[in-house]
Amino acid sequence: MKVLVTGGLGYIGSHTCVSLLENNYEVVVLDNLSNSNIGVKNRIKKITGKDITFYKGDMIDKKLLNKIFTNEKIDAVIDFAAYKAVGESVSKPIEYYTNNVATVLVLLDVMKEHNVKSIVFSSSATVYGDPERVPIKEDDKIGGTTNPYGTSKLFVEQILKDLYKSDNSWSIAILRYFNPIGAHESGLIGEDPKGVPANLLPYVAKVANKELECLSVFGDDYDTKDGTGVRDYIHVVDLAEGHIKALQKLEKEQKGLFIYNLGTGTGYSVLEIIKTFEEVNKTKVEYKIVGRRPGDIASCYADSSKAKKEIGWEAKKTIKDMCRDVYNFVKKNSK
Ligand code: NAD
Ligand code: UD1
Repeated sequence: MKVLVTGGLGYIGSHTCVSLLENNYEVVVLDNLSNSNIGVKNRIKKITGKDITFYKGDMIDKKLLNKIFTNEKIDAVIDFAAYKAVGESVSKPIEYYTNNVATVLVLLDVMKEHNVKSIVFSSSATVYGDPERVPIKEDDKIGGTTNPYGTSKLFVEQILKDLYKSDNSWSIAILRYFNPIGAHESGLIGEDPKGVPANLLPYVAKVANKELECLSVFGDDYDTKDGTGVRDYIHVVDLAEGHIKALQKLEKEQKGLFIYNLGTGTGYSVLEIIKTFEEVNKTKVEYKIVGRRPGDIASCYADSSKAKKEIGWEAKKTIKDMCRDVYNFVKKNSK
């Protein structure tokens, strides 16, 4: 089976390429390298011993997509290509809606023309906004997103639902990721944000590695176990495996629209993360408590029992594995 992975050289995409190759899928990647670099292709080969077919280009380019579908006999698509910086999306809404929504319409149109109707889409727990309850189930209320990034995911989910309603020969999996962290245990691929990281774990790792001075903990007055924000951190390798299970589900059912939360089901606070990171890596993370970050919520973690029941997926790696693998990657790749 041949899978087109858009955004396949990015953080989650590269780990998913590894899992696909390890499960004997053929992999074609389309990436414009806007947030990744071509060296990742060789690193995927180093880990798996296998090659991917790579097209450099933008998913908005219909001619290029047509060429790929004509040349490659694609069976299914996993769509990772998007921008993902929440803060930036507030100042660049046109760019975010173009890159996260318009490109998907082009992709779906070309898929339809070539009669390829199987797609796995990268969505996010952000579609739940400020959740009514935790743990969050897939049929809990969605909406109330507070930034263009989150709203772009909500829009694409709706587009996919409308598409399926119009033609139920499509097979669609919408995967709502919680907080992906960690890296491949080889340290060859991982998350390499440009500039100062906005997310917790990349920041913690850079403080430990003395690339940044001190972590700001955004608020200790939330209604949580220790007052700091609680999240469902999931190892990116477990997340990658979730895509294999979703693809297998689509292959088996042939049609349908399926939505799954991919999280561990356990929430950790910022202070628990710092403590675990320090213990596992025998290092010190300097931090100070500051005010809340605007837009943050207190707690967000998944009920992932639907994914376990329907696709046989559950996260295996622990928070210690995540902290160890993030630091291993950062130490091996710091510039
Ligand atoms: P990433 O930025 O590392 O990877 C995205 C890849 O897509 C990059 O390689 C980039 O160069 C490429 N790309 C972007 N726009 C493109 C376009 N128009 N055409 C071709 N390639 C393009 O991000 P990631 O963390 O791997 O995220 C992958 C997907 O998962 C995204 O859709 C993201 O919104 C979603 N997601 C990520 C997280 C997270 O915390 N990382 C959480 C929830 C959902
Ligand atoms: C972020 C995104 C969200 C996305 C999710 C998945 C924002 C506002 N939201 O969520 O859309 O779906 O990632 O990856 O970016 N923290 C600190 N100090 C820091 C950084 C973070 O204390 O320097 C705290 C936050 O307040 C939060 C926790 O750490 O409680 C996790 O933050 P982060 O890694 O940014 O993820 P989310 O905010 O959950």
